[in-house]
Amino acid sequence: MPTNSSSPHLPFGENKNAEWYGKDIISVKQFKREDLEYIFGVAHEMRGMVERVGTFDLLKGKILANLFYEPSTRTSSSFTAAMERLGGSVIPINEVKYSSVTKGETLTDTVRTLECYADVIVLRHPETGSAAIAAKAMRKPLINAGDGAGEHPTQALLDAFTIREELKHFDNLTVTMLGDLKYGRTVHSLARLLSLFDVKLNYVSPDILKMPKEVMDEVKEKGISQNEFSSLDKVLPETDVLYVTRVQKERFENADEYEKVKGAYVIDPAIMQAAKQKMIVMHPLPRVTEISMDFDDDPRAAYFRQMEYGLYVRMALLAMVLGKA
Ligand code: CP
Repeated sequence: MPTNSSSPHLPFGENKNAEWYGKDIISVKQFKREDLEYIFGVAHEMRGMVERVGTFDLLKGKILANLFYEPSTRTSSSFTAAMERLGGSVIPINEVKYSSVTKGETLTDTVRTLECYADVIVLRHPETGSAAIAAKAMRKPLINAGDGAGEHPTQALLDAFTIREELKHFDNLTVTMLGDLKYGRTVHSLARLLSLFDVKLNYVSPDILKMPKEVMDEVKEKGISQNEFSSLDKVLPETDVLYVTRVQKERFENADEYEKVKGAYVIDPAIMQAAKQKMIVMHPLPRVTEISMDFDDDPRAAYFRQMEYGLYVRMALLAMVLGKA
């Protein structure tokens, strides 16, 4: 990627011929393995730039509209930080109740409004498929920051980048996903994305929170080994990446069902004695009780590092869709 001092592209204009210029990022299904290598390469350079200079003017003059219909700490603030570290600015709409949405404005009218003022929109919305609908109404790029129980593609990209930065490769890894695999959009996206590599996937969940068949069928088509379990015991010793998720109370229609499964799994130092020494524990966060805070100081606890990798991946994605990478 171009840097401040050496790039012929900086600080002028954008490369409209760049592959990702003007594109929406809606689903991980858009990505091939070589795209991931490219994104990870740019994200790795972004990491180096942030460590060396902190902030630089790659996207000076560009504006991001951060439109969140659902709560967010990491995705919202890391996109804001990414834009500002690249010299751009942000229109924050983190609480749509203070916008014209409360007057009944539709999603498509809202994004068509914001693209009059911004160069790119990041959208989080509670309905599956909403990001694709919004993108279709727009001329400028839209990045899906989570659509209901559908997908969270930038989270999957930062998850995969975390695995690459921490373990240096993907092939022959055993990745175990644990918890709410039914409603967890992060695991839907990550399972699809990892199917581009030669990995083995284990799914551990209560019976009512299993990985959706639709996702498993897509992953199966890629020839990836997938196995389902209700207990972690059998698979923990072989696991290279343990991806823990929160049971998402807000997605349950029946509160009794949530009560039955809310504390199904808790990762703590005692349980982790059965795991490899060279492995990582990830979590998209926020967590509730599914990872004990006693485990946070273990070197295998990668979830705080994972959040930081999200900044570099989101810097890379903004630069790409705005023609600067
Ligand atoms: N991982 C994630 O999407 O976190 P937020 O809900 O805080 O954005």
